[in-house]
Amino acid sequence: MLIINPDTYKTLVRPLLFKLSPETAQGAAEFLLHQDYLWKFLSPLLKVESPRLETTLAGIRLKNPIGLAAGYDKDCKVIPSLSSMGFGYITCGTVTAMPRPGNPKPRVLRYVEDEALVNALGFPSKGLANAADELARVQEVRANTPIVASVSGVTEEDILKCHRRLEPLVDAIEINISSPNTAGLRIFQETDGLDALLTKVNVGRQRPLFIKLPPYLSPADHPSTGDEERDRVLGLVEVCVRHEVSAVTVSNTWPVRDSRLAVGSGGLSGRVVFPDTLRMVADLKAVIGDAMAINACGGVFSGVDAFKVLRAGATTVQVLTGLIYRGPGIARSINEQLLATMDEERVVVLG
Ligand SMILES: Cc1cc2nc3c(=O)[nH]c(=O)nc-3n(C[C@H](O)[C@H](O)[C@H](O)COP(=O)(O)O)c2cc1C
Repeated sequence: MLIINPDTYKTLVRPLLFKLSPETAQGAAEFLLHQDYLWKFLSPLLKVESPRLETTLAGIRLKNPIGLAAGYDKDCKVIPSLSSMGFGYITCGTVTAMPRPGNPKPRVLRYVEDEALVNALGFPSKGLANAADELARVQEVRANTPIVASVSGVTEEDILKCHRRLEPLVDAIEINISSPNTAGLRIFQETDGLDALLTKVNVGRQRPLFIKLPPYLSPADHPSTGDEERDRVLGLVEVCVRHEVSAVTVSNTWPVRDSRLAVGSGGLSGRVVFPDTLRMVADLKAVIGDAMAINACGGVFSGVDAFKVLRAGATTVQVLTGLIYRGPGIARSINEQLLATMDEERVVVLG
């Protein structure tokens, strides 16, 4: 099957799909993902079952550590099909309280040579009520594939609304404080802003909470040194530990400028950001120890990449650009190669 082998996908399917604009190609993928029966049929070919891959994230038992990152299924529309693809968990969203159109187009670019993307989507969302309805319809999926809902907003009130409404419908909530495409979010990238938000979120919190951190790079319009940015992120991590956040997701896209985007700047993802992901995971692990789990997110394409970030201290990995460049067999291929790498490195089971 062409689409489930990442090599044939890359050489035969991807060139056809990439003749379409990124958002049109995503629309075509979503059309296929609405065919639930197709993915149920393919599911045995996409899953790797091994007790050696099982792990626990903030008390949630996972069949493998490879999660789908936020942003692929923003409106929680195709969770059953995504759950057939062999991911250990699915992150849907980012969901916002009210419907939003997002930024003007063009707002997604491909850097094909680098297997990277730049997006300036700016949270297009059908809003909270729609996401809650979609999630209520797919509760049975959670028995096999835990679901994490990513939520965000530019006010505490909006984020709290999303958290309270979606928490009972999912296994964990991830609060996205780090999209580079929504300027109003930056108040939560200040320690005081995050502290105030988490104080309120923690009132009546029932389920694990993840915070998706920004990378060590300031927004494109605020240049600064890498060290300042590293200290800023470590400051946020301390706030998360104090508020007993369950895990940090490390990290979001890296702010870059590109004049082909209607808004002139966006967030970079894909293979090129992997070295930075690895460095951040190692830095944060040294600060956090066992106080919180780490989800490594950014540029993971292979089982070797996954092994490196897990060994550096991550509990799980999240993947998005890899799915777009390597197709629906990505979780299987990462998990198979992860097992082979564990054999080579004489690692019996994951943490
Ligand atoms: C097209 C696109 C849309 C994204 N949308 C979101 C989003 O809604 N919420 C979020 O937290 N991250 C979003 N991200 C960031 C990804 O979740 C992830 O942090 C980033 O792409 C790095 O991982 P990757 O290299 O595996 O893609 C988006 C990324 C892309 C490429």
